[in-house]
Amino acid sequence: MYVCICNRVSDREIKASIQEGATTMRELYKEHSIGSQCGKCCQCAKKLLNNELLKI
Ligand code: FES
Repeated sequence: MYVCICNRVSDREIKASIQEGATTMRELYKEHSIGSQCGKCCQCAKKLLNNELLKI
């Protein structure tokens, strides 16, 4: 499913980035421009980031 509709970024892509070492929203922003437009995805992306980091 898409987390960031504006930039067409899926949860799969975000999870892959975290597996490759991303640990902050800033890193996800740099890689995918998450939150760069409407910003509505930020909370969802942050939640996903925190959940994935707990699994590592
Ligand atoms: Fe991510 Fe709009 S949904 S910036």
